[in-house]
Amino acid sequence: MNYFLNRNNKSFLLLILTSIFFISSSCVQGTLGQNVSDEYYNGMVVCAYPDAAQVGLNILKRGGNAVDAAVAVQFALEVTHPEAGNIGGGGFMVFRSAKGETNTLDFREKAPADASQNMYLDSAGNVVPGMSISTHISSGVPGSVDGMIEAHRKYGHLKWADLVQPAIDLARNGFKITNRLAGDLNHTGNEFKKLNPGASYLLKDGGWKEADLLVQEDLAKTLEQIRDKGRAGFYDGIVADQIVDEMKNGKGMITKTDLQNYHSVWRNALTGTYKGYKIITMPPPSSGGVALLQLLQMVEKYPLKRWGFNRDSTVQLMVEAERRVYADRSKYLGDPDFYKVPVDSLLRPGYNASRMSNFTWGKATPSTDIQPGKIAGYESDQTTHYSIVDREGNAVSITTTLNDSFGSKIFVKGAGFLLNDEMDDFSSKPGFPNMFGLVGGKANSIQPNKRMLSSMTPTIIEKDGKLFMIVGTPGGSTIITSVFQTILNVIEFNQSMQQAVSSKRLHHQWLPDEVDMEKDAIDSVSRVKLEQKGYRIVGRGPSGRVDAILKTKWNYYEGGADPRGDDTKLGW
Ligand code: GLY
Repeated sequence: MNYFLNRNNKSFLLLILTSIFFISSSCVQGTLGQNVSDEYYNGMVVCAYPDAAQVGLNILKRGGNAVDAAVAVQFALEVTHPEAGNIGGGGFMVFRSAKGETNTLDFREKAPADASQNMYLDSAGNVVPGMSISTHISSGVPGSVDGMIEAHRKYGHLKWADLVQPAIDLARNGFKITNRLAGDLNHTGNEFKKLNPGASYLLKDGGWKEADLLVQEDLAKTLEQIRDKGRAGFYDGIVADQIVDEMKNGKGMITKTDLQNYHSVWRNALTGTYKGYKIITMPPPSSGGVALLQLLQMVEKYPLKRWGFNRDSTVQLMVEAERRVYADRSKYLGDPDFYKVPVDSLLRPGYNASRMSNFTWGKATPSTDIQPGKIAGYESDQTTHYSIVDREGNAVSITTTLNDSFGSKIFVKGAGFLLNDEMDDFSSKPGFPNMFGLVGGKANSIQPNKRMLSSMTPTIIEKDGKLFMIVGTPGGSTIITSVFQTILNVIEFNQSMQQAVSSKRLHHQWLPDEVDMEKDAIDSVSRVKLEQKGYRIVGRGPSGRVDAILKTKWNYYEGGADPRGDDTKLGW
């Protein structure tokens, strides 16, 4: 340095560096309205449970990349967030490398080979109530373990065993539960007892309370099999035998052959644009990506920014777009390996413009006037999402699910984990609503080895060719609309990531014809105006648990952890 700089130059350089420091830190603090200590430069994890977020952060700090951290978080959530974290379910991953390469992994559950179209109907052709929920026969073949193995094989950097070990430690040594988890376990205790006679898994005499230690020794042993044997540790050997025994005892369908035949699938990411931003999202068998891009196309030409967040015109437009998109979902979306899903036609801008042509500002369009377009529930919150970015800028957006809260609530005896009841995401009978109130038809009918349609919408957004946002949420049918609103909250309404996640949400899904709203989602004047136009507004509890990361103008990561749950953001 000395060689190049004389004394005056040195002072000048010092002045410049000091100014840059003060300008940049005051910009970060002043403009975003929050302390810079809440933003991070080297990476971030946002997920549903504090101990799992800590596991992910530790992996990032040890030099693991975003996929390494995701694998560790997935297994840690199985232990700490039994409502939805899972090895007995499935999910989707959207990946964007620091260089901009994109990919998606479909590790959604599949129908067992013995499944059939009318398996939930009685002899009169009626759906047997409850048969596709909380029964052994409601479980699809789990995909999560294979998904993690595939993701790690393709993109992982650290050793597999090192990514599974933190979950084993949490299961064996136990962890202190939050008040919310204690409440969820107590709330579901009677169902655990009924569905798993004689077993004590997740039960505690006198009930759970905050800070109790939850130890899961059977689960620790299962995770050790996965740590040591990889795929064979779950889809073959002891754990597979335990799953098959559980199925035999409870008249379930999953066989050893189903387990051995399960493979996750890499699929090209679905992409679209919104006002110059590039949206990278999940293709079918998720309906979420297609629906999200349709919604964004339908509202793009309108001045949402001028109307403002959750004002009557904004809400009316969103609701009318949602009504039309969910009608399309009911007819056209299903597993692309079994049904030709007309993705290109649904995403043609002219098509989506024409779908909005019968919308009038004067009154609500009744859902009875809307049918799926001609082209060439209610929620359980218990799916879970996590967003991760690493030091290099590789980004992962994963949504994973058991379907219902605690899945089927049936656990594999001796193996210490819960099974999904994902078969309910199929259409049991055309027009018959599933647990989320969603209807479907042929595209999503049950067939052997087919994947059931999902609403999970893990998404990554680019701006000017660079990473901008990582976003996703649980919430059944409301997943799509929660992701849609979170994106608009940032892009249109200039909300910070945390504000966008915390903001009150609303939802319409064509059928039933009602707008579901969180408390105080809109002001009373907007509400009256909408009701006068014929919108039926129905109150609902907390909607979704969005966990998201935004890359700020100053190249920091700002997390949004949903205050509706135990969701936690950690960075470094
Ligand atoms: N089980 C909820 C979903 O996949 O949409």
